[in-house]
Amino acid sequence: MSLATDLELLLAEAEAALAQAADAASVEAARVKYLGRKGRLPELMAGLGAVPPAEKPELGRVANKVKNGIAAALETATERLGGAGCHAGSAVDVTLAGRRRRLGRKHPISQVMDDTIAVFRRMGFIVAEGPEIETVYHNFDALNTPDDHPSREPQDTFYFPDGRILRTQTSPVQIRVMKNIKPPVRIVCPGRVFRRDTPDATHGMNFHQIEGLYVDKNVSLADLKGTLATFARELLGEDVKIRFRPHFFPFTEPSVECDFSCIMCGGKGCRVCKHSGWLEIAGAGMVNPAVFRAVGYDPEEWTGYAFGMGIERIAMIRHRINDLRLLYENNTKFLHQF
Ligand code: PHE
Repeated sequence: MSLATDLELLLAEAEAALAQAADAASVEAARVKYLGRKGRLPELMAGLGAVPPAEKPELGRVANKVKNGIAAALETATERLGGAGCHAGSAVDVTLAGRRRRLGRKHPISQVMDDTIAVFRRMGFIVAEGPEIETVYHNFDALNTPDDHPSREPQDTFYFPDGRILRTQTSPVQIRVMKNIKPPVRIVCPGRVFRRDTPDATHGMNFHQIEGLYVDKNVSLADLKGTLATFARELLGEDVKIRFRPHFFPFTEPSVECDFSCIMCGGKGCRVCKHSGWLEIAGAGMVNPAVFRAVGYDPEEWTGYAFGMGIERIAMIRHRINDLRLLYENNTKFLHQF
């Protein structure tokens, strides 16, 4: 018999033996018997020296095939017997802990936005959205903004060549909704707004606001205060108090600025609240009758309140972030903390 035939027979024998191996010990025994240093394959290979040179390449090929075949049969048997693993020579150690996949997570701005919307939804508000590219009419005119109001200036507002603008506030969504539906109205409008500010620790050229609008019969400033107080407690904690300070907005009358008591110091005064104990959070007021007339609501019949607040500001307070720009750098080491 030729050496090639002996090699082929050896493979068949090893495969048959391994197919019947009943435990890891017999697999290991087979490995020693066929591939071990004094095993059957090396024994046959020793005869290669006596083979005429012309036949050597072909025999080498057969020998390789047999060696790989036995190795594969060993692996199959090991797997069949319940596991790669625990013996030397295997690449996989099934007793090691798994590798944890890094999960992505919601950006802190989205978290605050979603939580804020959730609080207002529980109070019966529904979400309305409007375009980021707005008309001067919706962003300023219908909101009773005087023609010479400084916020209209190109130093403050981004204008497109066709005269449209990037909205500077979410208030134009109020106009779009009221022009579309009859009162009563109870909406919140989340979205991105744009202003031509020089970016610094507390200002960006674009940021996020959420607008609220409630129109019904006999709505009062007390309703506004109750709603914002509930929101403050739900989002930032039971002990948060609010206060109103008189202010001016063209689209509300009277207008207020709403402060929340500082959550860092509990109102005692600290660096974050500039030792006042209060944080400025929202602009708000009773809807100006001129706005109702612009959208075709009868101001004798309907009353309402509106408010608008900055989401970045709330996120900075909630997470004690001292520079707004950190929120936009997409540094995952920073973002993974939230
Ligand atoms: N739109 C105002 C702003 O951006 C906030 C505001 C909204 C004030 C609604 C009153 C009512 O500053």
